[in-house]
Amino acid sequence: MRYGYFDDERREYVITRPDTPLPWTNYLGSQDYFGLISNTAGGYSFYRDARLRRLTRYRYNNVPFDTGGRYLYLRDEASGVFWSPSWQPTRSDLDSYECRHGMGYTIIGSASRGIRAETLYFVPLDRNLEVWRLVLTNDRDTAAELSVFSALEFCLWDAWDDVTNFQRNFSTGQVEVEEGVIYHKTEYRERRDHFAYFACSLQPAGYDTAREVFLGPYGGWDAPLVVRRGVAANSIAHGWAPMGSHHVKLTLQPGQTETVVFVLGYMENPADEKFDPPGSQRINKQRVAPLLEEFLDPRAVQAAWDKLRAHWDNLLGKLQVETPDVHVDRMANIWNAYQCMITFNMSRSASFYESGVGRGMGFRDSNQDLLGFVHMIPERARERILDLAATQLPSGGAYHQYQPLTKRGNDLVGTNFNDDPLWLVLGVAAYIKETGDTSILQEPVPYDNKPGSESPLYEHLQRSMDYTLNRMGPHRLPLIGRADWNDCLNLNCFSTTPGESFQTTTNKEGVTAESVFIAGLFVLAATEMVQLAQLTGDGAGAARYRAAAEEMTAVVCDAGWDGSWFRRAYDDFGRPVGSQENDEGQIYIEPQGMCVMAGIGVEDGRARQALDSVRERLATAHGIVLQQPAYSKYHLHLGEISTYPPGYKENGGVFCHTNPWIMIAEARLGNGDAAYDYYGRINPSVREAISEVHRCEPYVYAQMIAGKDAPTHGEAKNSWLTGTAAWNYVAITQWILGIRPEHAGLRIAPVLPSGWSGFSARRVFRGVRYRVQVERGGPGTRIALEVDGQPLAGDIVPWQKSSEEVQVRAIVS
Ligand code: GLC
Ligand code: GLC
Repeated sequence: MRYGYFDDERREYVITRPDTPLPWTNYLGSQDYFGLISNTAGGYSFYRDARLRRLTRYRYNNVPFDTGGRYLYLRDEASGVFWSPSWQPTRSDLDSYECRHGMGYTIIGSASRGIRAETLYFVPLDRNLEVWRLVLTNDRDTAAELSVFSALEFCLWDAWDDVTNFQRNFSTGQVEVEEGVIYHKTEYRERRDHFAYFACSLQPAGYDTAREVFLGPYGGWDAPLVVRRGVAANSIAHGWAPMGSHHVKLTLQPGQTETVVFVLGYMENPADEKFDPPGSQRINKQRVAPLLEEFLDPRAVQAAWDKLRAHWDNLLGKLQVETPDVHVDRMANIWNAYQCMITFNMSRSASFYESGVGRGMGFRDSNQDLLGFVHMIPERARERILDLAATQLPSGGAYHQYQPLTKRGNDLVGTNFNDDPLWLVLGVAAYIKETGDTSILQEPVPYDNKPGSESPLYEHLQRSMDYTLNRMGPHRLPLIGRADWNDCLNLNCFSTTPGESFQTTTNKEGVTAESVFIAGLFVLAATEMVQLAQLTGDGAGAARYRAAAEEMTAVVCDAGWDGSWFRRAYDDFGRPVGSQENDEGQIYIEPQGMCVMAGIGVEDGRARQALDSVRERLATAHGIVLQQPAYSKYHLHLGEISTYPPGYKENGGVFCHTNPWIMIAEARLGNGDAAYDYYGRINPSVREAISEVHRCEPYVYAQMIAGKDAPTHGEAKNSWLTGTAAWNYVAITQWILGIRPEHAGLRIAPVLPSGWSGFSARRVFRGVRYRVQVERGGPGTRIALEVDGQPLAGDIVPWQKSSEEVQVRAIVS
């Protein structure tokens, strides 16, 4: 069953009924000011940091689930009837409803009682504000007297404090209202230099800023007292819960259309210019005035929206493909690329399942996210790499997370996730392959953000490698530390205390438990380091990394091999995890994917055998589960993985992030059908047809799909912020379609599904446009290239500065 459809032409997903199984959401903003928005206008906004600079309030896990947002109420003055044009929060019957989620904007349209309403929400490029453009049309044959009420709740900036510290917060709230503009200035009187403003293009008849006055005693958002009465109370908040509401009155003649623009923004003032006049407590509003002048004008709004769409045309234009499969096209060309940009901005911080108060930017997450967006915004990938590397510790280890506002490592979570540093190598390598910019390796970067500790980025990478080499266990496999990629496989935390963190509590010495996954990742990273060393003329380094990779490969093929697949780890007692010897958790997906991607066992048949075992034991119709058999009870020595009921999350769920590793592994072995088959199983667009089972948005990947041991097998959870986005993008574009940046140029090495006769692609690579035409000439994966009509040996099109456009024909046989 479907709840909408894809409008590929407009790059939108169109939701046709408001009661989707879960909120189906979108993101606003591209640089500093961001918002989350659901299909019923739920969500919130923040400036740069979802925890420390939250503009509007949102209560997670609410009842109904998605309550609180950018709300509007329409009131028919003749009858006193009111409704929400976005359905929530009144949930009144609508004659029609449509939500269009697009690239950085959302449009919610509906009709009720002869009044059509369409609201466009977006954040103009390079501006710290959001626009709600409401267009009202009277379809009646009589004039309509209408009231419009806007409504949002302000958050008292620190979102964590906001939901916990009520004894203080109920007394601190402050606002100002001037010429119909509502200013939120809690804590501006003391240390904050920022405030929010909320304005409307029509002179409001009244306003409200005190939530309890607006809603009335025991009132909810579904029927605020002020809206019921039809008259704003002009309330001023003193403490409690500051909010913003404008009351706009208008008369629409039959057929008449009217536009009302609302603007919500964030503003900072220099410390010595906070007040006007100086010495008073009144906000200095000078910097706001020109923005309101501009964006309350519907023509400027249209221009800003046009600019935003052109921006996305340009970003997505870096790679466009035309294949025989509509699901591939719309994910690769639109939604998967878009999701990669969102994970770039958000890491794992703010979604409808990540509350924005917990995690900042993840070290391993952000490095992997980079793989999916580097071709769209290489300059910002560069910036991100340098930020990440600056949180690295002198030991080569890394803070697991950092706060985007301060760019400081997060001490609460700390370090010792032993896979973390290696991902930096992958991120940097991807950046250089995309851009050719080897200068980044010489860029001085501090450790732990300490001025004076700078060394070239290349040395950071060397320390990343040494970090692993200096932490080897009894089998000469890398020690796992708190966890590797799988945060929930905690081999050094034997926790019997409820509520204790499995990640930050370590009560074992950590000198025994080892990870085969990290070993695979190390080999992959070492292969990249060999190439980077060669690029920088570090011959000795290249030899060292080549030797280290060979040595590690040998260990994996020995202690890391279980007979039919790669083992996962060794526990604190030195016993294998992910082995026939175990009763539960005999085979894990991660080492199969990672080791084969690293090339381990490709020559000797181990790789094929491992992937066959995956197919046999882990693959389901809804994707490949993380391990089998799932853990039926809590295993003290394995940690959080066994806390989840079987089939959920890391305990036998389809943890989608890992699936593209298997796709890439299959593609590496030349098996296009298997890679493409797995790709389709978790592709959200394919799964649109079973939306009642999948339940999450059909346009973006979710972190998890419940596995075969779960009663709700096939149900997705935690949409949007997942490494699944970047890795699937890599799997489909670089491995199945095979258009893969290399240091020397653009590799064209598709591994076509047997049913395909070919495809075409347009790729912008280091400023040159490549037009690629792939044709099937035979059943295999041999590539014959023709570049600008001339045959070319190999499968890499060397990059040439002088050309603007290059025509590539590839025959696969
Ligand atoms: C979450 C984390 C990621 C981790 C994964 C597996 O997605 O953000 O860092 O690798 O879970 O545990
Ligand atoms: C929980 C989640 C896991 C996530 C981790 C991050 O353990 O299950 O997916 O990676 O938290 O701290």
